[in-house]
Amino acid sequence: MNFHIMTLFPEMIEQGLGTSILGRARDKGLISFDAVNIRDYSGDEKHHKVDDYTYGGGAGMLMQAQPIYDCYRAIMAGIEQKSGSADADKKVRLIYVTPQGRTFDQQMAMDFAGESDLIFLCGHYEGVDERVLEEIATDYVSIGDYVLTGGELPAMVMIDAIARLVPGVLNNDESAMTESFHNNLLEYPQYSRPEEWMGKKVPPILLSGDHKKVDEWRLEQSIARTKERRPDLYEKYMLENPPKPEKKKRRKKKAAPSDSDNLKAPEADNKENT
Ligand code: ADE
Repeated sequence: MNFHIMTLFPEMIEQGLGTSILGRARDKGLISFDAVNIRDYSGDEKHHKVDDYTYGGGAGMLMQAQPIYDCYRAIMAGIEQKSGSADADKKVRLIYVTPQGRTFDQQMAMDFAGESDLIFLCGHYEGVDERVLEEIATDYVSIGDYVLTGGELPAMVMIDAIARLVPGVLNNDESAMTESFHNNLLEYPQYSRPEEWMGKKVPPILLSGDHKKVDEWRLEQSIARTKERRPDLYEKYMLENPPKPEKKKRRKKKAAPSDSDNLKAPEADNKENT
């Protein structure tokens, strides 16, 4: 999977994403990062200016449309060339990273992880000229209801969450499935050696070797933890996993029909069966 990041600070992206698990995945060729400096597409050869005052007044500068558009066209040309003409019409999603967007979550990460290329546009200053957004943005995404100084950190947060879902990026494929937010549940508590630390013992069930019981215990813990810490998620979980109705107790076999039973109208019996 290829991540293309349009930014004024490419070094931030390279430093942020080039280490640890994502750096290793990149070395293995599972993912790639291409941080493209919007300033390289400035029409202003002398000062490489990419921002200007806002029409209608107001504080701050706005990122201009043309450098962003030219940067985008260059990225698209690279993608089209790499994927060949067969895929040329395929729409590549461009995520404008903005506090005005939909709030990023695990479901969105999974959705984006299905793409082969993703483009991120990181804003700065007071934002971006609306016209270029109308032209190129397919998704407006925020990482939460607070305002940061630029889009690079949010883009890196999203890229990390998406990239780790790419097959092979995590060593243990399973770990992407069992952890927090899978099935709207938070992850259960986990313990490692020693068996007792500061007087606190590891729950005995985890030492029992009974895998079925351990799984049941973990699910119970996940549910309880989600209910306590994230009642919003718990509600979703309960809607998707309603408690199974208790099995009805078997009624005792009826005694042989009495004479009065035999007098019941036949239509009534039929109705009950419809
Ligand atoms: N840019 C500035 N703040 C942001 C946020 N909270 N989410 C996404 N992009 C941003």
